[in-house]
Amino acid sequence: MAKLNFGGVEENVVTREEFPLSKAQQVLKNETVAVIGYGVQGPGQALNQKDNGINVIVGQRKNSKTWDKAVRDGFVPGETLFEIEEALQKGTIICYLLSDAAQIALWPTVKKHLTKGKALYFSHGFGITFNEQTGIIPPKDIDVFLVAPKGSGTSLRRMFLQGRGLNSSYAIYQDATGKAFDRVVALGIAVGSGYLFETDFRKEVYSDLTGERGTLMGAIQGIFSAQYEVLRAKGHTPSEAFNETVEELTQSLMPLVAENGMDWMYANCSTTAQRGALDWWKRFRDATKPLFNELYESVATGKESQRSIDSNSQPDYREKLEVELKELRESELWQAGKTVRGLRPENQKATAKESNSSTKEVFRKQALKSESIG
Ligand SMILES: NC(=O)c1ccc[n+]([C@@H]2O[C@H](COP(=O)([O-])OP(=O)(O)OC[C@H]3O[C@@H](n4cnc5c(N)ncnc54)[C@H](OP(=O)(O)O)[C@@H]3O)[C@@H](O)[C@H]2O)c1
Repeated sequence: MAKLNFGGVEENVVTREEFPLSKAQQVLKNETVAVIGYGVQGPGQALNQKDNGINVIVGQRKNSKTWDKAVRDGFVPGETLFEIEEALQKGTIICYLLSDAAQIALWPTVKKHLTKGKALYFSHGFGITFNEQTGIIPPKDIDVFLVAPKGSGTSLRRMFLQGRGLNSSYAIYQDATGKAFDRVVALGIAVGSGYLFETDFRKEVYSDLTGERGTLMGAIQGIFSAQYEVLRAKGHTPSEAFNETVEELTQSLMPLVAENGMDWMYANCSTTAQRGALDWWKRFRDATKPLFNELYESVATGKESQRSIDSNSQPDYREKLEVELKELRESELWQAGKTVRGLRPENQKATAKESNSSTKEVFRKQALKSESIG
């Protein structure tokens, strides 16, 4: 395993160079990998493994749109696509890719089929780390590990088809067979990871829950919203407020940051932007750090996982969720975003057709709407 230096700290990393696909195929040649669940991660991981020559089957409940999708994707009922319990029986490695809430509900069924020497694979540390809440306690005579791709299953598949790879973390919770390392890394490569970095179940889930509540989704929406509201309250139009808050970030800056880092961005912007960003970033850090500490504590004490389990298992979960999503969708910020996206040259034809309005008209309507809000 390679030791790489990350900003002065050495970490264990497995790359495709040292663990090529041929080695992964060799390690998995006598295994039947059963991917249980065909939601978001399921298709990405199952299709990539299939294309990589791994013996993979899918377990999915029948009479659902998801089952039909698996058929459309090339999985054959009775050959490579089965009801969940049948797939659990056939699989020697069980990739447990149901939603985290469904994993709790299905656990008694899964447990029955975890016979000696099999492996249980997760893509999240949630079920095991919070096992007092989830009840997911595997038998001692099986391997338990995870590969967590750092992105959506859709990106995992898309990048695989482009010949690229998403980075993933991996962790071993139980090594009953002595083969857990080879098995988990082989699976990591087979599902299409670019490289794999080492973690443990607890760290994986703590960082993941913090990240998605923080800068990846929660904090960023909060900051977008705060800046947009200030600009609007000070008389800026929705299009101007949206462009200065989101559009420039996603269209121009973030692709460059992804390529070169924020340090490069700071060194390669106008001197005016540079002076301001250098003056303000530490103030934003200091203002938000207490909230990030509070968030981490909320994750570490199990409050966030309990909240997620409680809300996701309510019978009216979907209706309540829809109300919250509607608020976001219908907010002026994201409605303005929709119009701005439609004005991108590559989308303009569609927008013109859709709304039958001229560009001027789109903005006029937006301005009228915002007057009544602002
Ligand atoms: N979303 C991501 O991109 C992502 C990224 C990294 C890691 N992960 C982790 O990967 C795992 C899978 O996540 P996901 O987002 O792919 O899950 P998901 O899309 O929410 O999973 C949906 C799957 O679960 C099945 N399901 C739901 N409730 C069920 C029930 N009561 N009985 C039987 N099947 C049920 C669905 O079948 P039906 O369609 O029939 O309901 C579908 O196959 C999770 O541990 C997650 O944390 C996800």
